[in-house]
Amino acid sequence: MKMNPQLSSHSLTMPVVLIGMMGSGKTHFGRLLSSALDLPFHDSDNLIEKKAGCSVSEIFERWGEGKFREAEANTIQDYIAQGPSVLATGGGAILNAQTAEVVFSQSISIWIDAPLDVILERVSRNKNRPLLACENPREVLQQLMEARAPIYERARIHIKVGEENTERTLEKILDAIQKQLALEG
Ligand code: S3P
Repeated sequence: MKMNPQLSSHSLTMPVVLIGMMGSGKTHFGRLLSSALDLPFHDSDNLIEKKAGCSVSEIFERWGEGKFREAEANTIQDYIAQGPSVLATGGGAILNAQTAEVVFSQSISIWIDAPLDVILERVSRNKNRPLLACENPREVLQQLMEARAPIYERARIHIKVGEENTERTLEKILDAIQKQLALEG
């Protein structure tokens, strides 16, 4: 994957944080960005699973969504405080007001925005999404998208995915980061 020649891990003084709906491709683009920028990659769901020793679905089952959200807020805020890295967050993470504050003020936040049909297709292949373990995942996803869009919109960068190939989308993300850094001087 070709790297934007003006961009390197040294240009970044804060983490790059990917937000957006489940199944939108945050982890996928997060990994690619981490190798293009030569920065470590973390995924908040993964970090929480490792610490708990079980899957997100099992955490919801055993301790409830509230405990998961608590762990999610602490994990994300801790990793952002550690400096430059690429962090993919769970789709509902920014509903926590303190996490939203930290993400939007202390990181280069990127909203990975995929159409509902693309998301539905992707999530149908993975059972580790407790909020969608229901009769009508399309309806639930639609409602979550509508409720969350006004928060996702606060991201510094908005990238629509699912329209172009991965390489082109990654280039767009890298260009947008470059522009963002130039804006910030
Ligand atoms: C959730 C998204 C999931 C995971 C949990 C709840 C959400 O992460 O944190 O199932 O509320 O949208 P991904 O966005 O990585 O799938």
